[in-house]
Amino acid sequence: IPAPTIDFAAVIRTIPDYPKPGIMFRDVTSLLADPAAFRAAVDAMVAPYAEMGVAMVAGIEARGFILGGAISHQLAAGFVPIRKKGKLPLATIRVAYSLEYGVDEMEVHRDALTPGTRVLITDDLIATGGTAEAAVKLLRELGAEIVGACFVVDLPEVGGRQKLEALGVPVKALVAYQGH
Ligand code: PRP
Ligand code: MG
Repeated sequence: IPAPTIDFAAVIRTIPDYPKPGIMFRDVTSLLADPAAFRAAVDAMVAPYAEMGVAMVAGIEARGFILGGAISHQLAAGFVPIRKKGKLPLATIRVAYSLEYGVDEMEVHRDALTPGTRVLITDDLIATGGTAEAAVKLLRELGAEIVGACFVVDLPEVGGRQKLEALGVPVKALVAYQGH
């Protein structure tokens, strides 16, 4: 039985002026709450990587953990969390990344993977790409071979996709929105 076609954009809510005026917030919690849409989204995110030898999925805190758990399960891969600083209990490496105002840091356990591990990065959304770029830096410092990065939402005009692809990381997303 073929899977039903899902209009992903129709199940992603847009909240104008959140978290500040002028920002259109693309809220994937409504997609996650819809059983058919969540399943179809994970299936669609996994499909391109089914034969890519992905050994580990790296999910970016916080919504990347939800998707990454499901994706790693379907790929029979492990999962590694890329966390905001101060959350991981053992030795870590950190990298700073830009937010709209100021900077923050992401970190990963030093022993999260062995060099040469084939890793797929995931998060709910890519905008400027600063967050995903931080994940790429951390994983490469550990010697990962990054197979790609997949997202539910891409905001191409903000430039994140180009930024990652310039780093040699192919990007896939289920839905692209023009504008911010
Ligand atoms: C949002 C989103 C991505 C990131 C994308 O996370 O979930 O992780 O921003 O933005 P960028 O491409 O410009 O870096 P947020 O910083 O809101 O944190 P959260 O996921 O923990 O809520
Ligand atoms: Mg996030």
